[in-house]
Amino acid sequence: MSKGKFYITTAIAYTSRKPHIGNSYEIVMTDAIARYKRLQGYDVFFQTGTDEHGQKIEEIAKAAGITPKEHVDKVSSEIKSICDLLNTTYDKFIRTTDPQHEKVVQKIFKKLYEQGDIYKSHYEGLYCTPCESFWTESQLVDGKCPDCGREVKPAKEEAYFFKLSKYQKQLEKYIEENENFIYPESRKKEMINNFIKPGLQDLCVSRTSFKWGIPVDFDEGHIVYVWIDALSNYITGIGYDPDGSSEQYKKYWPADVHIVGKDIVRFHTIYWPIMLMALGEPLPKQVFGHPWLLFGEDKMSKSRGNVIYADDLVELFGVDAVRYYLLSEMPYTSDGSITYETIIERYNSDLANTLGNLVNRTVAMSNKYFDGAIMPSNAKEDVDDDLINTALSTVEKVDKLFAEYRISDAIEAVMNLAKRCNKYIDETMPWALAKDEDKRDRLGTVLYNLLESIRFVAVLISPFMPDTANSILKQINTDVDSYDSLSSFGGLKSGNKVGEAKPLFARIDAKEMFAKIEEKQKAQKAEAEKDDKKEEKTEGIAQIGIEDFAKVELKVAEIKDCEPIKRAKKLLKLTLDDGSGTPRIVASGIAKWYKPEDLIGHKVIVVSNLKPAVLCGVESNGMILAADCAEDDVQVIFVDSMTNGAKIR
Ligand code: MSP
Repeated sequence: MSKGKFYITTAIAYTSRKPHIGNSYEIVMTDAIARYKRLQGYDVFFQTGTDEHGQKIEEIAKAAGITPKEHVDKVSSEIKSICDLLNTTYDKFIRTTDPQHEKVVQKIFKKLYEQGDIYKSHYEGLYCTPCESFWTESQLVDGKCPDCGREVKPAKEEAYFFKLSKYQKQLEKYIEENENFIYPESRKKEMINNFIKPGLQDLCVSRTSFKWGIPVDFDEGHIVYVWIDALSNYITGIGYDPDGSSEQYKKYWPADVHIVGKDIVRFHTIYWPIMLMALGEPLPKQVFGHPWLLFGEDKMSKSRGNVIYADDLVELFGVDAVRYYLLSEMPYTSDGSITYETIIERYNSDLANTLGNLVNRTVAMSNKYFDGAIMPSNAKEDVDDDLINTALSTVEKVDKLFAEYRISDAIEAVMNLAKRCNKYIDETMPWALAKDEDKRDRLGTVLYNLLESIRFVAVLISPFMPDTANSILKQINTDVDSYDSLSSFGGLKSGNKVGEAKPLFARIDAKEMFAKIEEKQKAQKAEAEKDDKKEEKTEGIAQIGIEDFAKVELKVAEIKDCEPIKRAKKLLKLTLDDGSGTPRIVASGIAKWYKPEDLIGHKVIVVSNLKPAVLCGVESNGMILAADCAEDDVQVIFVDSMTNGAKIR
């Protein structure tokens, strides 16, 4: 009988690039919880997926010379195959480009607009025209665009806003009345003190500066801006529709828990509940914010060859070892770290020594002493009590820890049971019992206790390492693997024969492993170099056609006058004779390298059909060409022998 429904989700991953192992932590953690709940008899629905819209995707695709859809199709399928490789049991993989999702997001937007929760206004900020981006004062670098270093100017863009402020009180009340809504406690404090108490600002929920997104269907040119699109996945994926939701939605919503990283707890505990309040839908029961998995001391980069990907790790260590490492190494609230050294260390000590040896020794002894037969446990001694109690109490412990999503502690509790079993072998010394014919019953009982404890380990470890659990159950030859079978000690049937003893985890030779890792890193570096070359080609000259080049008008012009611009240290104001008869004024950022007297009388190349731009109060009509000869060495291209106004082709 089902214990009830349990709807669990991960955040949906951005499809900018192939995710590294840190990005994969969340799906494995969520999978462990989903598997545990299923084991306990819950009717689980587990959703994950990809977040595919936005300006960044549009830009990446453009640079690669493909359409945004082609780009997201590729990355989304890479992400999905990593989820599959890691043996995660999601029930639904949603993509924000799914037509059903897009349609419902449009309806949600419209509904919120029609009921007055979304209103049209202006987005104001400092705008960089070439980058088509708004910035706030604090984001600027030296007062310039942080991306391209050019001037920004105050600008306004028409946009829709969501009235978060209207729901502030209602949200505060919900958080107060549902003490486990934001979890763990430390994240809750952070949200309340840093974001909710200072007061909520209305949220900009549409953009007109890019195209790759869900269009606002009643106002052409507006695109639904990321969070309304992304967060809605949790309900569109199970059939929410403002015009009438599916049975599946009615069954599973509200979510029991959203598992998300610490950086996006804010969106899930402020924007998301408010969106749901506005839609009149129930709120998720819990949002759990996990920390991040970082990479040793070093920053990861492909060109350094130190990016760690799930597929490489699986190839080197196997799926379950990777799952084990991720789940056991991550602290509860502070960030975790991953290094090859610690992976090897934990693999050898926990998996090969503690768990692998236990199963191997026990199954081998059963085969050796009883030809594999599982004996009845009728020769009990006091020393057995502690082992049996540990097995039973581990079930309770794991349950309590899972309830708080203390995953690494839960896995440690199971490993402690395995350690307790190893200690029991030392205490009972089966090899000594085997020498005494009178102790045969006792030996049978000792081995039974070990095999039964190993069964507990296998069942409890199945959410973390499903293949290993199956392999253990196969070796001890039992199909008694339900959660309920752990309510008492003794579920393993005597009379059956155990299978063959097969090592679960072969010990890793660190030296050999590092040689393999080095090879992988070399390959990664080589690939990064290839990518860089490709990027140079796509971003540079190779990608424009002659017709594009023909659009640029280049002329020879003589510098007649030159003076510094008071408000801008980097700029010089040049007066040019370009043969047209009208002096041309150009502001040029070369003050660091040239004084007016170095320039007057020389001839330069000017881009003469550049749109005028006002730079620090000077209207600039063009740009002169210069070369970056070295870092911090800019040289103007002089063409003194040429005729003023001559066109350069
Ligand atoms: N697309 C948004 C989420 C929208 S949910 C409606 C997003 N995507 S992401 O790809 O950047 O991150 C996906 C999840 O992975 C987030 O929960 C994020 O916190 C988590 N992680 C990203 N880097 C991580 C680590 N290095 N370690 C652990 N989790 C990490 O945010």
